[in-house]
Amino acid sequence: MANKLFITDTILRDAHQSQAATRMRLEDMLPACEALDKAGYWSLECWGGATFDSCMRFLGEDPWVRLRALKEAMPNTKLQMLFRGQNILGYKHYADDVVEAFVKKSIENGIQVIRIFDALNDPRNLEQAIKATKKYQDKYGAICEPAISFTTSPVHNDEYFVDLAVQLEKMGADVICIKDMANLLLPYNAYELVKKMKQAVNVPIHLHTHNTTGTGDMVYLKAAEAGVDIIDTALSPLANGTAQPATESIVATLQGTERDTGLNLEVLAEAANHFKKIADKLKAEKILDPKVLNVDPKTLLYQVPGGMLSNLLSQLKQANAEDKYFDVLAEVPRVRKDFGYPPLVTPTSQIVGTQAVFNILMGERYKMVTKESKALLRGEYGKLPAPVNEEVRKKAIGDDEVITCRPADLIEPELDKYREQYKDIAKSDEDVLSLALFPQVAEKFINQRDAAPVEDEVRTIYVDDAAL
Ligand code: CO
Repeated sequence: MANKLFITDTILRDAHQSQAATRMRLEDMLPACEALDKAGYWSLECWGGATFDSCMRFLGEDPWVRLRALKEAMPNTKLQMLFRGQNILGYKHYADDVVEAFVKKSIENGIQVIRIFDALNDPRNLEQAIKATKKYQDKYGAICEPAISFTTSPVHNDEYFVDLAVQLEKMGADVICIKDMANLLLPYNAYELVKKMKQAVNVPIHLHTHNTTGTGDMVYLKAAEAGVDIIDTALSPLANGTAQPATESIVATLQGTERDTGLNLEVLAEAANHFKKIADKLKAEKILDPKVLNVDPKTLLYQVPGGMLSNLLSQLKQANAEDKYFDVLAEVPRVRKDFGYPPLVTPTSQIVGTQAVFNILMGERYKMVTKESKALLRGEYGKLPAPVNEEVRKKAIGDDEVITCRPADLIEPELDKYREQYKDIAKSDEDVLSLALFPQVAEKFINQRDAAPVEDEVRTIYVDDAAL
């Protein structure tokens, strides 16, 4: 079909990260892989984001072993990961050589689509991950998919996003993603934005949204009418609410139209039957709270992502100041404006939210400024989308120098340093990268892994691991 709408299913990554604290295990995934592999998806998002940390911290799983097992179980489907630009999967900027090594190992272990985003949409923070993906592309056929973090503000209009897309295409994007992490994109805006972007770039457009505010399905339908190439959905048992709209609903809606997805509802039902059991188990374990399935229109009202609202509430509870909730909600957009309108996504959502809490609780704005707020105002996270409030910056960092170069230019190569530092624990370069990203968590995990008696099958995997 000439104009088929392609589908990426997020059931193995974003769906359970959004609804169940990223707690789905490999053993919960494998029984459905045969059905998933024959469903005909464009890709399956299954790695990166919070899965890497969660594997080692909570599940006692080696994230690299999970990736190889999924690739083996789904040889016909492209596996996709979410990569946080220069932060990789961690929370600080890493040196270019670490970014390159991580991209290389991800591809070698089975990833074929790398979605790369930056909280500030500073293309310089995407540059090295894009370059690395392109470098290993010929050898392994990986697809480089830089993402635009969608948000709303006086500077974030269609023109801003289209310019960014043009820039990303020039940098080597094979596909461009519009990443609407908070479901702030509305259906008719989605139609306009996709139309304009399709006119400005030649590469396919991949749209990612959630159903937090209840508009997700409509966003996808309008985007499909505007010619979007690929969309992200989740199989029904973990779909909707804070996760993606349901795959089956969109597939059924478009059947017989010119945007027919070509996916077979019976095969999808086979996979969904399995994940229904997993969703029930996560509910019984109280990991999945059905509250996340409710439509949350507050996000549209305050332009604050759902996850951030619950963080603010718990910070205020700890300070016995729950009565200040609405004051803090009103302060968030003011802080965001002072800081040059960063999109609210990890880590900027935490930085802006925490600063708003301090501004209200201290009774004076910026009397107390967090370390992270200072770093953001110093340019350490990259270029902010709009000019900052200079009075606030002065109060926060005094006469400190503001960085205007690419932040990673200030970081010396680190890979050999990490190899040396972890030579007694790491069994492979994959281990070195796990340790570089999550030092305490990975060290504890690897020590336990290597102390435990392993079954023959698992042992074989570790031997292969050392040879990579
Ligand atoms: Co998402």
